[in-house]
Amino acid sequence: MAGLWGGRFTKKTDDEVFAFNESLTFDYRLFEKDIEGSIAHVVMLEKQHIISLEEKDAIVKGLITIKNDINEGRIEFSHDYEDVHSFVEAKLIELIGDAGKKMHTGRSRNDQVALDMRLYVRDEVVKVDELLLELLKVIFRIMSENLNTYMPGFTHMQKAQPVTVAHHFGAYFEMFRRDRDRLSSIHKRMNYCPLGAGALAGTTYDLDRDYVSTMLGFEGATLNSMDSVSDRDYCIEFLAALSTIMMHLSRFSEEIIIWNSNEYQFIELDDAYSTGSSIMPQKKNPDIAELVRGKTGRVYGALMSLLTTMKGIPLAYNKDMQEDKEMTFDAIDTVKDCIHLFTGMIDTMKFNDAVMAKSAMNGFTNATDAADYLVKKGMPFRDAHGVIGELVLYCIDNNKAIEDCTIEELKAIHPMFEGDIYDAISLKTCVEKRLTKGAPSPDRMREVLNIYKDYLN
Ligand code: ARG
Repeated sequence: MAGLWGGRFTKKTDDEVFAFNESLTFDYRLFEKDIEGSIAHVVMLEKQHIISLEEKDAIVKGLITIKNDINEGRIEFSHDYEDVHSFVEAKLIELIGDAGKKMHTGRSRNDQVALDMRLYVRDEVVKVDELLLELLKVIFRIMSENLNTYMPGFTHMQKAQPVTVAHHFGAYFEMFRRDRDRLSSIHKRMNYCPLGAGALAGTTYDLDRDYVSTMLGFEGATLNSMDSVSDRDYCIEFLAALSTIMMHLSRFSEEIIIWNSNEYQFIELDDAYSTGSSIMPQKKNPDIAELVRGKTGRVYGALMSLLTTMKGIPLAYNKDMQEDKEMTFDAIDTVKDCIHLFTGMIDTMKFNDAVMAKSAMNGFTNATDAADYLVKKGMPFRDAHGVIGELVLYCIDNNKAIEDCTIEELKAIHPMFEGDIYDAISLKTCVEKRLTKGAPSPDRMREVLNIYKDYLN
């Protein structure tokens, strides 16, 4: 094992201790960020006359070579190194000799890892946001095409009032729009550069932290060196935002699973996004939706895990914090896959309009509208609620829908019913008359779609 800190030690690390302690097996994925941060650091060191121009040039050139060699498979991550930072430094010294030993001047792995992780997470926040934007575009397309596609709206999983596919999908548009908003506020809050914090108390070198921060695209340098090396709030906030995205995807998946079931048949998933059964030939299973729903658990797990890891850590850096990586990486990979596959799945699924419309008419979804009809004729709402309750009971006993009753039957329940009741409680009226802001009437939905169109462009 190549030593970063051999000087004080007389004995080699025990092999099992080394294996338990090392992080290269998972933090290797920070190597590009590690190199990017090191380049900014040495450029600043030269500007501040802490290293020479020749040394800076040799280090930068060496680091770029190492990056290309890793990317093109000429260098492999060999597990004799403790972490990605020691690996890159050792490779640099191997490649360029003594100048390489100056790279770490005025720096600690504590501020280095804080920087690398921040750079990595910052990119991933943007990538997740881009995937959400793709998902929103598909939801927008489905909404635009289904302003008049009726379906039942549910409360307590019981049919409640008719809505449209556009309206139902619009609810998810709102959720994912809020998710993007959360990501943008996380990006803003985390965009400060921790490099220059040293191990915990800054350094005695005349570092220009603002210069490094600008080079790396940060808003500024962090203001407290102890916080800089021990802050993982941005990981926790990101995991919380990812958990919320998964919660939304999971609810949506649950609905798709229900809609795809034999009992509902509201939608049909594309063959490319479904799987079969090894024994039952008739099966077409919504595995993708089920997996998205299932994977929500591991993303929540990552959030709980990091919150718990961080809760007892005194200032400043402690090795516990190395535990931020595996779960965060896993959660990021999982959520990106889920958003991407979910987008493809809904983009290709088909709606069974007739089945949904029929279902929207059953189950007395127009009962509220029937009560409102009586209210418009002058009856107080609470009385109308009672009359329609009686009417529904009559219909259940006689196995028919409200609109199937003759005018005589209706008048027998209450004389206020007249011939115009049928139009007042038709599916079309029930949807089109729901004109409140945010309601499913196509006229209102068109206004919302105009707002979404601006938002997406
Ligand atoms: N591998 C470490 C981590 O991920 C890097 C920082 C190590 N610093 C230290 N003082 N041991 O947190």
